[in-house]
Amino acid sequence: MHSENLTRQPDRRGFFKKTFATVIGIFSMFCPVASGLTVFFDPLRRKSSASGPVRVTTLEALPIDSVPRIFRVVADRVDAWNKLSQVPVGAVYLRRTGEKTVEALNIVCPHAGGFVDFVPGSNCFVCPFHNSRFAIDGKVSDRKSPAPRGMDALEVEIRNTKEVWVKFQNFLAGHAEKVPIP
Ligand code: FES
Repeated sequence: MHSENLTRQPDRRGFFKKTFATVIGIFSMFCPVASGLTVFFDPLRRKSSASGPVRVTTLEALPIDSVPRIFRVVADRVDAWNKLSQVPVGAVYLRRTGEKTVEALNIVCPHAGGFVDFVPGSNCFVCPFHNSRFAIDGKVSDRKSPAPRGMDALEVEIRNTKEVWVKFQNFLAGHAEKVPIP
């Protein structure tokens, strides 16, 4: 009995050694895979919007008549995997209300993300998707409008005496509050 135990011990030791070596082998195989996945998914942690104010136009392009005019917003954009230079990131209605004052509204409807039209005859905005109506300042003007809030106003700066810069931002549709989209 005792001698049988002695003969089996080397077998058992060999088995544990092999098992240990296999576990280490599998572990070391997964380490590079895990670090590769980290590098692959790292871009998802980056932001995907224009950062900071964007130069949109000059005051010369905006007569002081309080009529909204539509402008494309072009900026550098960092999305999940790419850094793109000077690409369209959205559009705004700009309305010059004084010598040095301009108001900006994002053209995206806060109901479900349609593009809002300006109707010069009625001096108001209408979204053709579900007929939300907004006053010239972007506030909801018809209580039957499904939009839960007014059009999204954006910050405007006048730089170098005549350049119009807008802090462009998109917001989640369907919410009563303005929730920025990162
Ligand atoms: S998307 Fe504008 S009213 Fe629905």
